[in-house]
Amino acid sequence: MAAMLPEFVVFPNPDAVAQEAATRFLALAEAAIAARGRFVVALAGGSTPERLYKILATKELAWDKIVVFFSDDRFVSPKSRFSNVGLALGLLPLAPQTTFPIPSETSLDAAECAREYQATLLAELGPEPCFDLVLLGMGDDGHTASLFPGKPALRSTAKVTHSTPGVLPPPVDRVTFTLSLINAARQVLFLVTGANKAEKVVCWKAGEGTIDMLPVLGVQPTNGTLTVLLDTGAAGA
Ligand code: 6PG
Repeated sequence: MAAMLPEFVVFPNPDAVAQEAATRFLALAEAAIAARGRFVVALAGGSTPERLYKILATKELAWDKIVVFFSDDRFVSPKSRFSNVGLALGLLPLAPQTTFPIPSETSLDAAECAREYQATLLAELGPEPCFDLVLLGMGDDGHTASLFPGKPALRSTAKVTHSTPGVLPPPVDRVTFTLSLINAARQVLFLVTGANKAEKVVCWKAGEGTIDMLPVLGVQPTNGTLTVLLDTGAAGA
């Protein structure tokens, strides 16, 4: 079966990308809550989502009906400046009773943390977790979440796994959603900005390379949609 290629949508700048992502987030949240009583979302890590979270923090959202997981994190304290969980908790008025941070503080190592997080995920969402929305970014090496080129995590059949560091900083172990979990989502939305990502976006658009070389190619939602919001820098425009 031919690989599913994302819908690539280009915006003039990172602010416009964040605004579009916020618009989509709000619409998806409203629809999911209306249809199923809750919106199940996985927040992305890295720096790109910061603009989006700052916009969402100004919006009227029923956060007590929004179930929040994290698509990956570095195995650091949420107090660390490297923490994806810490970034989101610092910017968004998340409801503690429906927010599930990656438990890096209470786990011995990334492997145990991944097992714990998977157990929490299955307890909350059932044996076949299906996110309404998974937010993701892409590193300039083509990784997404903490699924790095050539690493075993790419082939994990679990829902949550762990990884040794990739080539991009910070050089710390990671806990990450697997492709299997991501591809079970109803909607996957990438936010990719910056000219440093343009080279990998060209390969992605061409469907060039293997998943080992370009992990974003492994994001192929089974029954969901796949959209990549780009600024002109990342689009090479
Ligand atoms: C991480 C992120 C990672 C991120 C990309 C892009 O923990 O590093 O989850 O997958 O999305 O590396 O990062 P930037 O948004 O900082 O470019």
